[in-house]
Amino acid sequence: MVIGGGMVVREQILPSLLHLERLGRVGAVTVCAPRHETVASLCEAEEIRRAFPGQSFRVLPGGPGERQPELWRSALAQLPPRQLVVVALPDQLHYKVVLEALRRDQHVCCVKPLVLTARHGSEIAEEARRRKLLAVVEYHKRFDDRNLMARRAYREGRFGEFRLGSACLLEKWRYRHSNFQNWMTAEHSDAFTYVGCHYVDLVHFITGLLPVAVSVYGVLDRFPNGREGYLWTDARVLWENGACLNVQNALGVPAAAPGSNLQGLTLYCQTGDTGALLAHADQQRGIRHSYLAPEEYAEPNPDFFQYVDFGGPGLTPVGYGYRSVEAVVDAVVAVEAGERTVQEIDGAGILATAANSGYNDRVIEAARESLRLGGSEVRCAP
Ligand SMILES: NC(=O)c1ccc[n+]([C@@H]2O[C@H](COP(=O)([O-])OP(=O)(O)OC[C@H]3O[C@@H](n4cnc5c(N)ncnc54)[C@H](O)[C@@H]3O)[C@@H](O)[C@H]2O)c1
Repeated sequence: MVIGGGMVVREQILPSLLHLERLGRVGAVTVCAPRHETVASLCEAEEIRRAFPGQSFRVLPGGPGERQPELWRSALAQLPPRQLVVVALPDQLHYKVVLEALRRDQHVCCVKPLVLTARHGSEIAEEARRRKLLAVVEYHKRFDDRNLMARRAYREGRFGEFRLGSACLLEKWRYRHSNFQNWMTAEHSDAFTYVGCHYVDLVHFITGLLPVAVSVYGVLDRFPNGREGYLWTDARVLWENGACLNVQNALGVPAAAPGSNLQGLTLYCQTGDTGALLAHADQQRGIRHSYLAPEEYAEPNPDFFQYVDFGGPGLTPVGYGYRSVEAVVDAVVAVEAGERTVQEIDGAGILATAANSGYNDRVIEAARESLRLGGSEVRCAP
């Protein structure tokens, strides 16, 4: 069951699950959101219909009516135990829904960031450990081959030690006009919490280093509905070996600019008197298209999530967005079949879990505190 029916569900999670259902690797899919209109729009989504002809999914609420913000509770109560629940709600709602799903004996996959405080992350990890359930955080960039290559090479010692780096992830201006303006407001989230966490997680994923302190300066701006948000952020993350990563984030790529976002990572590394460099330009993957109608220039990312025609039926999802969901499903199936333990999956460190990625929760908590303090350095909780 998927809880939430917004952009990430439409563009990555639901099509991935529907493909896995087509392959017979998951059972029937249910999507639950507070409003029927939200789930109805998923049923009507042109790309999903073209990709999965003859397939459908159950939606909650089943028909129009009042907004039902707590519907997920009764939906969870009716689910047989030890299924997979995907939580794809606004950042500030993850904690209570993930915890309730675990208490209902469900494996959980939550979109990033898992939670906003270290204590909430530990509670989730403890509940999952006690019940031998998976609590995965869906950091799909881990499944981009360039990051898996970097991880292997770094851990083989080919880069030496990370010293100084920079990363950015700036989303398109249109995000300001989306449902984001109803939840990504200053009191709940910010550009760093929303997308900066991806690159903090990647630096750990590649290097194994842990972050120890954060300072985040945010520029308050207004969404089109008048609500205030930290829509521009500049973060400095210090690591246990003294290394420093600068991370810039925003809902700030101009509408007229090419590509679907601006993103990348550069790490300068060193061993003794020799320097090494790792640089990923993640927004330009070598494709430049100019279309006829509407007349428009695009730089699509072939690696994240695309539908391709493999000869049918319908279209096949490919890319690291799909592989990430597939890896979660494979892990749940392996645990239920007794082929792998939750501890093994935590220990392997390829899937981010509540147990093995608590550093992300500690960074987010410190970052939110730093933002409130106008950018002062805040130590991550031990
Ligand atoms: N957009 C992406 O590409 C992306 C990628 C990875 C993770 N995420 C994460 O996924 C989560 C959801 O992101 P999204 O892009 O789907 O957002 P969205 O705003 O498009 O959708 C949010 C969904 O949550 C539901 N919802 C429930 N309670 C809500 C409330 N009180 N206020 C607003 N919406 C409420 C809405 O009905 C909607 O279905 C966030 O935690 C985000 O950080 C997003």
